[in-house]
Amino acid sequence: LRDKYMGRITGATDEATLEAVRLEAVGKKGEIALKMRELGRMTPEERQQVGPALNALKDEINTAISARKAGLEDVALDERLRSEWLDVSMPSRSRRPGSIHPVSQVMEEVTAIFADLGFSVAEGPQIETDWYNFDALNIPGHHPARAEMDTFYMARAKGDDRPPHVLRTHTSPVQIRSLEANGAPIRIICPGRVYRADYDQTHTPMFHQIEGLAIDTDISMANLKWVLEEFCRAFFEVDTIELRFRASHFPFTEPSAEVDIRCSWEGGTLKLGQGDDWMEILGSGMVHPKVLSAGGVDPQMYQGFAFGIGIDRLAMLKYGIPDLRAFFDSDLRWLRHYGFSA
Ligand code: PHE
Repeated sequence: LRDKYMGRITGATDEATLEAVRLEAVGKKGEIALKMRELGRMTPEERQQVGPALNALKDEINTAISARKAGLEDVALDERLRSEWLDVSMPSRSRRPGSIHPVSQVMEEVTAIFADLGFSVAEGPQIETDWYNFDALNIPGHHPARAEMDTFYMARAKGDDRPPHVLRTHTSPVQIRSLEANGAPIRIICPGRVYRADYDQTHTPMFHQIEGLAIDTDISMANLKWVLEEFCRAFFEVDTIELRFRASHFPFTEPSAEVDIRCSWEGGTLKLGQGDDWMEILGSGMVHPKVLSAGGVDPQMYQGFAFGIGIDRLAMLKYGIPDLRAFFDSDLRWLRHYGFSA
């Protein structure tokens, strides 16, 4: 019996096998327990010999199992230490710091400049009703401006014939929302995303604008001109900047002007303040009385100007970036080149 179990104990290579051997040998229904039961049928002399011998064997087997178990645990530990070995002197993989996207950078710069000029920041939703995006801005149902804007319309469920929501085509709806919320006098800018179905070197379906709105009792076109020139000097960090106010038309301003900045394309790169080219950077004008009324402000008492600047255009000009589409390609090499370290 001893030889049988001792052999199996030393031969066990894992704890499960060892446990099986233990149950078979010294468990409650194990072989030694069975032998103990046979003691009753023996003569007292035999019992006195066999009983202690069985007990001794039981102790011996238990001791051997414990020893073998400790041995197996040592082996397992050694194995783990070997496989989980870590070279702490190995150089780590380098991680590049992130950087600020040029559009975010320009938004922050523009916001800071207008903050200095006394404008606070307002916001509005990117999904608009056609009331805020069009009607309230004096662009009624069949006005050609709706078609010109290449509007993205949100789908409505079948049978739902309410007018569809749109992706806002400009930040001008925030004029109405801000007038409704705060009334006049007011001086705000609103930076944000806008959407139009258009795509080429200077147009992407999503782009960024900053709306400006200044309403008070005596604000004039001269104030608009000064604010925009002051802004451009600060933004482009130059003392003189040449702006061209070109008479234009927007349904929500009267009179209206588009503003171009003098620039040139030299060998494919954009240069500012020189050359014979003009790049349009914004639309502006005196807020139409109907727009003030739609925002709940009395046009007999208040007047003022509004403008909408293309932020991506500004970034192209300031940082000499030729293709607008690259802004939204998420190409890490481009972002690293034009990105601004945090
Ligand atoms: N909303 C106009 C556009 O997107 C720009 C603009 C804003 C013009 C405010 C005049 C006044 O083109």
